[in-house]
Amino acid sequence: VTITSPHNEQLKAIRKLNQRRRERERSGRFVAEGEDLLAAADAAGWQPVQRFCAAGSGLAGTEVEPALLATASELGSGTRALAVFQERWAPAATGPLCVYLHGVGDPGNVGTILRSAHAFGASCVAVGPGTADPFGPKAVRASMGALFAVPLARVETIDALPAPTVALVAGRGTPLHELAAGPVTLLVGAERDGLPREIVSAADHVAHIPIATHSLNAAMAATVALYEASRMARK
Ligand SMILES: C[S@@+](CC[C@H](N)C(=O)[O-])C[C@H]1O[C@@H](n2cnc3c(N)ncnc32)[C@H](O)[C@@H]1O
Repeated sequence: VTITSPHNEQLKAIRKLNQRRRERERSGRFVAEGEDLLAAADAAGWQPVQRFCAAGSGLAGTEVEPALLATASELGSGTRALAVFQERWAPAATGPLCVYLHGVGDPGNVGTILRSAHAFGASCVAVGPGTADPFGPKAVRASMGALFAVPLARVETIDALPAPTVALVAGRGTPLHELAAGPVTLLVGAERDGLPREIVSAADHVAHIPIATHSLNAAMAATVALYEASRMARK
């Protein structure tokens, strides 16, 4: 049966999940759109709760009249496929290569960091206070499917993180490449304010990526630091 009604309750629920973090947190569900993302979910063994496709596309899922499916989509161009998944949260942050995000409020940065974490074989991304929802539509899209592959954990205080912790602070502490190789949790701060002072002083080390300007974007800094940490681990 093809869905043709704009009042369809399942499509209404998808719009809510896309638009409201509270609804995602209440239901523990999120939406992923597009054939590439759904293929990444399949490859990682994630079964959707519901799957929808544009009528006539030949894709898997309940068929929806294409113009109507576009009204549930967050992609400007609409979509041929979308699915609802149950969120997965690891019970704790785990090493040996963990990234902790504190106040990283831009969902595009959160998704980009997930993508880099996957690329460099990180064991976990830990989501701290003030950080954008990694299951929000912009973060899901920017992760390019990495959120199906990298374990995510919610962390309220940094003593819940695997040691040693390294606070990444532009222009402060040790140059990152001078730290000893081994397990590490990289702490990344807010786009505007950086890491709060109490987090920096509680960290085991403070390190910077040597650059010629004041600072890098949070996702760029996380990516360079992940590269450095994975490079040191390979040595
Ligand atoms: C845009 S920066 C924040 C800039 C902020 N005004 C400050 O001075 O901390 C966002 C985050 O990226 C990381 N970061 C940016 N540039 C860095 C660098 N050169 N070395 C280490 N971390 C850096 C830090 O974790 C920082 O909290």
